[in-house]
Amino acid sequence: MPTPERVSSGLEGVVVGRTAISWVGGESSDLVFRGFDVRELVPGVPYESVAHLLLFGDPPAADPSREVTDALLAARQPPAAVERTVDALDPRLPPLEALRTVLSTLGDGSWSYPPRLEDGYRLIAQSPVLLARFLRRAAGRPAIAPRPELGHVANYLWMLTGEEPTTSRVRALTAYFDLLADHGMNASTFVLRIAISTHSDLASAATGALGTLKGPLHGGAPSRVIEMLDAIGAPEHAEAWVRGRLARKELLFGFGHRAYKTEDPRGLLLHDVARSVAAPERLRLAETVETVALAALRAAHPGARIYANVEFYSALVLEAVGLPPALFTPTFALSRTVGWTAHALEQASDNRLIRPDIEYVGAPKGRSWPRPRPGD
Ligand code: ACO
Repeated sequence: MPTPERVSSGLEGVVVGRTAISWVGGESSDLVFRGFDVRELVPGVPYESVAHLLLFGDPPAADPSREVTDALLAARQPPAAVERTVDALDPRLPPLEALRTVLSTLGDGSWSYPPRLEDGYRLIAQSPVLLARFLRRAAGRPAIAPRPELGHVANYLWMLTGEEPTTSRVRALTAYFDLLADHGMNASTFVLRIAISTHSDLASAATGALGTLKGPLHGGAPSRVIEMLDAIGAPEHAEAWVRGRLARKELLFGFGHRAYKTEDPRGLLLHDVARSVAAPERLRLAETVETVALAALRAAHPGARIYANVEFYSALVLEAVGLPPALFTPTFALSRTVGWTAHALEQASDNRLIRPDIEYVGAPKGRSWPRPRPGD
């Protein structure tokens, strides 16, 4: 049984393919969408235009993208059978579990390989409608119909609350949606591309991707950032809390990243957004926790190059726009449906089954079964 020369723990440093969608510059604090530094896009560019850029490769002729806006409006109404299944869900399901079921339910047999742009529009447009429908019903309230004159992000806030979303909230959440729309070969996109590489359909691939995004080492981190801030309570308690947590070998959520060995550019931009929308006391607490946590992490792991990741200030922004922590990861997933669509189309355009190897470290070949086999 020959063994491979090298096993890469966590696939670190392994290049699994090529993409023209986004580049993560982990050493230079860069995130580039189709050649555009995200600092060119945020704040200000509507999500429909970022979607246009990621899906088509170039910016739209005008903002917001007419093509994407019209396509999302046309795709927004879920099939009645899908709505019925969503209405039958246990209202006590956590929103993330509900959204995972929504994605699975969207796959009603009408999706197939290769994925089409129209499948992506269905995924992007119908997921927020169905999540909002579930949440309203779980709260004992009737669903709120989408409003065609609102942009994708404003309409999401509208369907959740039934209140006119303020300009500052829409602007802050749009920055979040723009920045989280894609991110190279992260774990959930990898899962999505593996599923597509087997000739599975986009709804199934997105369901697997969401199951991966959910984990607290990936997209499940931001609600835990809020738990941490709430547990600390005041800046003067940060030092003792952080030290206690690290002494117990527990993680500090919102810190560290596989790709970024310097500042996460999304975190820097979302910190700016948080300065304009978060309550000053909350912001002061978060900034103190960031300083204290980085000092403690760097002392505990010399040479590890740990910085705040995107989730740290994401949590502050999502909280400030009025979302409860249970909606943080589902909202992350909604923003990522654009990137997932772009990656599914790219994978299918030049597909080869993704099937890595694993080193076998079990008992050597040659053991004999301890009893006579039935029929011997
Ligand atoms: N809290 C405590 N210890 C940490 C943290 C952290 N936030 N981040 C890294 N470390 C430790 C690691 O456990 C490791 O310790 P070890 O050498 O004793 O094993 C050391 O620092 C070096 O870590 P890396 O090898 O750089 O980390 P890796 O690339 O394997 O993991 C990860 C990256 C999973 C994001 C990690 O930093 C982490 O668990 N962070 C907290 C969870 C989090 O915030 N996730 C969101 C990431 S952003 C996103 O996915 C959208």
